[in-house]
Amino acid sequence: MGVCLSARIKAESPSHTGVNSKCVSTDGKDASSLSSKGSSVSVPLTPRSEGEILQSPNLKSFSFSELRMATRNFRPDSVLGEGGFGSVFKGWIDEHSYAPAKAGTGMVIAVKRLNAESFQGHREWLAEVNYLGQFYHPHLVKLIGYCLEDEHRLLVYEFMPRGSLENHLFRRGSYFQPLSWNLRLKVALGAAKGLAFLHSAETKVIYRDFKTSNVLLDSNYNAKLSDFGLAKDGPTGDKSHVSTRVMGTYGYAAPEYLATGHLTAKSDVYSFGVVLLEMLSGQRAVDKNRPSGRHNLVEWARPYLTNKRKVFRVLDTRLESQYNLDAAHKMATLAFRCLSTEPKFRPTMAEVLKELEQLQDLREEGTCSSNGPRSRRRNVEDTPNAKGVASYPRPSDAPLYA
Ligand SMILES: Nc1ncnc2c1ncn2[C@@H]1O[C@H](COP(=O)(O)OP(=O)(O)OP(=O)(O)O)[C@@H](O)[C@H]1O
Ligand SMILES: [Mg+2]
Repeated sequence: MGVCLSARIKAESPSHTGVNSKCVSTDGKDASSLSSKGSSVSVPLTPRSEGEILQSPNLKSFSFSELRMATRNFRPDSVLGEGGFGSVFKGWIDEHSYAPAKAGTGMVIAVKRLNAESFQGHREWLAEVNYLGQFYHPHLVKLIGYCLEDEHRLLVYEFMPRGSLENHLFRRGSYFQPLSWNLRLKVALGAAKGLAFLHSAETKVIYRDFKTSNVLLDSNYNAKLSDFGLAKDGPTGDKSHVSTRVMGTYGYAAPEYLATGHLTAKSDVYSFGVVLLEMLSGQRAVDKNRPSGRHNLVEWARPYLTNKRKVFRVLDTRLESQYNLDAAHKMATLAFRCLSTEPKFRPTMAEVLKELEQLQDLREEGTCSSNGPRSRRRNVEDTPNAKGVASYPRPSDAPLYA
């Protein structure tokens, strides 16, 4: 079995590069076959030199000592999370001058610091600055600035108080209560808006790393995409795909991309399908601790997704009776289509967005008929005192990092 050297597992297919694998097996052999383990204004993306990128007028260039002060010397107790790139720290800056501020005053930021031994390195750091520095969209996390000084590589983002979708779906314990059905729908919609924006004609970017840890939530559960280190410009002219080294995260990458290295916007749609399925089921895409035959969520769940009588087998039991069976079936069918092995059968993100909006509209209008044994109620947030609902977490009960 392979042992991966990074929390975020990436691999480069030997058929494309033959070198630089991010994942090695215990016997020292390459294990890069990825058999196991995320009102808009845009500026057209043009290839830019490093100098040009780093002079982006939208971004502040921080010194290392400023970020050290803002994070109180990268205090271990202010770590918000760890990824393949390094650790993410909470910090404070003055909202006008962006100078370091006393903890608890001014504006809260998240500072991502590249580990010296990180595999992802300067190239991804630069891709992140290049892409996020050029976009503004309500469903993309805002990059405030960066630090490039000697060997130091840091990124400074707006702070997302509710952390990642991964934590909300999979962390157990009183701190992380399960997300309600309505909040799952809201988060899916927000993330779909972010991806649809990236795929839109004026932007044409393939995100390549869509997964629950890269979907961050603000205090109102608005979803924003973070981590643009793997993003790529989409194909131009009459090209149907971009050929790249295979990189991504086990369990989320589309099968044709793994097999050929051919990357299209439909690869992101597949990853979106995996996340939608994780949201429906409350289970991770890949989990070796599940009984055999269930390690890979997509393979196990696929036969049930379009079957109205069996779909409940996939649905998260922690949702109890919150969902309407019609709506759950529609969402599962949408996930099924996103997960088509054949990319041409997958919907576009614009189509996904439309379907999720229709589900949201049905919920708001309350016109979804309740026709299943598990569908007693339509709208948790709208009926907080309904019988059987009170025990379910309300938005304010879920953790909000202050
Ligand atoms: N802007 C932010 N605000 C609040 N928390 C954040 C922010 N950015 C990242 N985090 C937290 O830090 C964690 C680590 O983020 P990071 O992007 O480095 O790694 P990851 O996405 O978990 O894994 P990978 O490196 O494999 O993509 C996130 O899962 C999230 O919990
Ligand atoms: Mg991330």
